Amino acid sequence: MSSDLPTGFQTELLPVHVAIIMDGNGRWAKKRLMNRVKGHERGSETVRSVVRTTRKLGIPYLSLYAFSTENWERPKTEVATLMSLLRRFLASEREEMLGNNIRLNAIGELDRLPATVRSDLEAMMVETAGNNGMVLTLCLSYGSRDELTEAMRAVAIKVTQGLLDPASLSSDDIARHLYTADLPDPDLLIRTSGELRLSNFMLWQLAYTEFVFSPTLWPDFTKEEYLEILKMFQERDRRFGRVNDT
Ligand code: FPP
Repeated sequence: MSSDLPTGFQTELLPVHVAIIMDGNGRWAKKRLMNRVKGHERGSETVRSVVRTTRKLGIPYLSLYAFSTENWERPKTEVATLMSLLRRFLASEREEMLGNNIRLNAIGELDRLPATVRSDLEAMMVETAGNNGMVLTLCLSYGSRDELTEAMRAVAIKVTQGLLDPASLSSDDIARHLYTADLPDPDLLIRTSGELRLSNFMLWQLAYTEFVFSPTLWPDFTKEEYLEILKMFQERDRRFGRVNDT
């Protein structure tokens, strides 16, 4: 890996948590007069490569927006393809995850997923539960507003039960009720395909995250570009709203 790194890359200055909105599979296929499904297939290859690179670099958390709550509105055949690609990914990456100490995690409205996908996911999460080299979080049937609404509901119930005092409610109390309670907030968000929006992804968690928007369509996103983006992240001056007087 070290020989592939761009000049000036600092292996000790990496984000702890990288989150990615993988976008542009459909346009990639359309440009080639192919069915959108082909774009998702090629997109899965990119997922494999990014997971591998992230693990090799020693970045401890990677979260991928693989399917949003809004994606259920896509044609049935496309949804079915995405679900089967997900199952294929879980099967083909099993060895990789076990051999490289990767723990699989999934967040979102998982009970909306087909039973087959859910059981494969659960099996893989159980099998990798003891791994501590990297947490790979797949965001599936995920929507940030639903996640926040669910958290507010849980907090409100605890308030009515007298388990939480509304006067002393903190942002940590809210964060503890999100799907991401066990994850640090992302340090870096990458969105491919040139779209400049968040599309209902981790609205709470991205408050101080560095954003990089790439024009590259997800199937064309390479390891080289990923490394360049990580280098750009290293050059950002993160102040978290404070003054940096150095
Ligand atoms: C956005 O492209 C991508 C998705 C909705 C799904 C992402 C899925 C994968 C990368 C493959 C399967 C996932 C895993 C984890 C193996 P788009 O279809 O919205 O592209 P478009 O905006 O060009 O139409």
